[in-house]
Amino acid sequence: SQPLAIVLDGPAGSGKSTVAKEVADFLGAQYLDTGAMYRAATVRLLELGVELSDQPLVAQQVAEMVFSPSTNPLSEQILVDGTDVSGQIRLPEISEVVSKVATNLSVRATLVEKQRAIIDQAVASGFPVVAEGRDLTTVVAPHAQVRAIITASEEVRLARRGKQIPGQDAAKLADQVLRRDRDDATVSNFTSPADGVVVVDTTDLTLEESVESVLALVANWV
Ligand code: C5P
Repeated sequence: SQPLAIVLDGPAGSGKSTVAKEVADFLGAQYLDTGAMYRAATVRLLELGVELSDQPLVAQQVAEMVFSPSTNPLSEQILVDGTDVSGQIRLPEISEVVSKVATNLSVRATLVEKQRAIIDQAVASGFPVVAEGRDLTTVVAPHAQVRAIITASEEVRLARRGKQIPGQDAAKLADQVLRRDRDDATVSNFTSPADGVVVVDTTDLTLEESVESVLALVANWV
């Protein structure tokens, strides 16, 4: 059968990354974390000393960057301009400002094109591909065979994110996560499903059950 593209969108802490990786691993698929690309661009811009509010300069710099994200679901490696930034992309100071870069519409146009190329290449090489982020179901890959929004209640999302970042002040984390979702929602629709997009609410699901829910959607195609 034809190689599949499976794309998942959702807010911060919805579990979409973990679910996407497990689904990709199970299927022997390639994997693309599009958020890691926005994060890597942010790390590089700060390293270059670019003022993130300088929209034209930010757009120009990102257009010149070379991104090499691993497409192995078991690896979190990402290189930008030949430098491994994997250890920096999840730092709280990056999470704090990444939306400034991601709400720059010229940056989005650049990264969407690069993300489509990575997905197309995986499919062309005969691999299924699982990609996740905020605008995959609507903008990057609206023609993917399987499209879903992975969501969860605010309370559960904050609890999951808190577990990933032990030691961070809970109120500060809540502010940061909710503000980031609000900012991100101004440019991407990852809360209400587009036509043909399935919603998987993981509030009351274990990780295994969430993975099963996505695999059940995939089962219609394989
Ligand atoms: O998924 P993650 O939380 O790592 O994404 C980091 C940031 O990258 C998001 O807060 C958002 O600003 C941006 N992003 C985006 N579009 C995507 C994926 C991520 O704007 N497809």
